[in-house]
Amino acid sequence: MKAKKQRPLVVATFAMTVDGKVTTKNLAPVDFTSRQDKLHLFRQRALADAVLIGHTSLKRDNVRLGLPAELQEARIRHGQTRCPLRVIVSNKGRIDDRLKIFQSDVSPIIIFSTNRMPRKTQKALEKKATLHLCKAKHLDLATMLERLRDQYNVRTVACEGGPTLFRAMLEQGLVDQLNLTVAPYMFGGARAPTLTGLSKEFLPASVHCSLIDMRTIGDECFLTYRIKH
Ligand SMILES: NC(=O)c1ccc[n+]([C@@H]2O[C@H](COP(=O)([O-])OP(=O)(O)OC[C@H]3O[C@@H](n4cnc5c(N)ncnc54)[C@H](OP(=O)(O)O)[C@@H]3O)[C@@H](O)[C@H]2O)c1
Repeated sequence: MKAKKQRPLVVATFAMTVDGKVTTKNLAPVDFTSRQDKLHLFRQRALADAVLIGHTSLKRDNVRLGLPAELQEARIRHGQTRCPLRVIVSNKGRIDDRLKIFQSDVSPIIIFSTNRMPRKTQKALEKKATLHLCKAKHLDLATMLERLRDQYNVRTVACEGGPTLFRAMLEQGLVDQLNLTVAPYMFGGARAPTLTGLSKEFLPASVHCSLIDMRTIGDECFLTYRIKH
């Protein structure tokens, strides 16, 4: 029998409104959580060997995926690198090399994409990141995780979304923990994505979560779920 390959532990962190929305219909980089929540996101990122993001969130939010100085220093004191590896996933590969992440050198950037990435983009990105391009039209997320473990010694991945990537990982049983902040707002709107995106389809099987921690700070609730496999 073929042994099951080992993959890193995947911990996803999201914030959602009381009515389950993670953003508005225009996918605007909405700022609906507190400073405490932002610190929570940074702390979760600091615990990981790699931080993972989908192309749309990277583009929309234009994030660098670094860490505040105190958390960088704490990692160094523990014998770790300054910041986790930064990993981007994209099927089409049309990633703009002028995004802020490419102006910051806090940690290496790894891009998993396909041969659909235009040559010109490949040339531009090669100077700023390591590219892993597969021949298939779509990435295999399980293989990507195995590669992160085998080639980069990644044991823990902080998945920061967005919902399209999170859903794909969830459908394949690749998420182990969900840190969920419930923020005191409601947005409404059928076209505003929820945690599992916009798809009208049910998940292939319902995902069972086990609540392992719950804290409140002000009007926000910080939940930690273990995902049952
Ligand atoms: N509230 C929160 O906690 C939170 C967290 C994160 C993001 N967000 C919000 O979510 C919105 C974006 O979410 P989204 O669902 O549209 O986008 P997303 O998941 O960030 O990115 C989707 C894109 O990532 C790539 N991708 C996703 N899954 C893939 C897979 N299995 N294989 C290969 N590539 C994959 C594809 O890129 P290509 O199109 O290039 O092929 C896809 O179009 C933004 O507004 C952001 O602000 C909110």
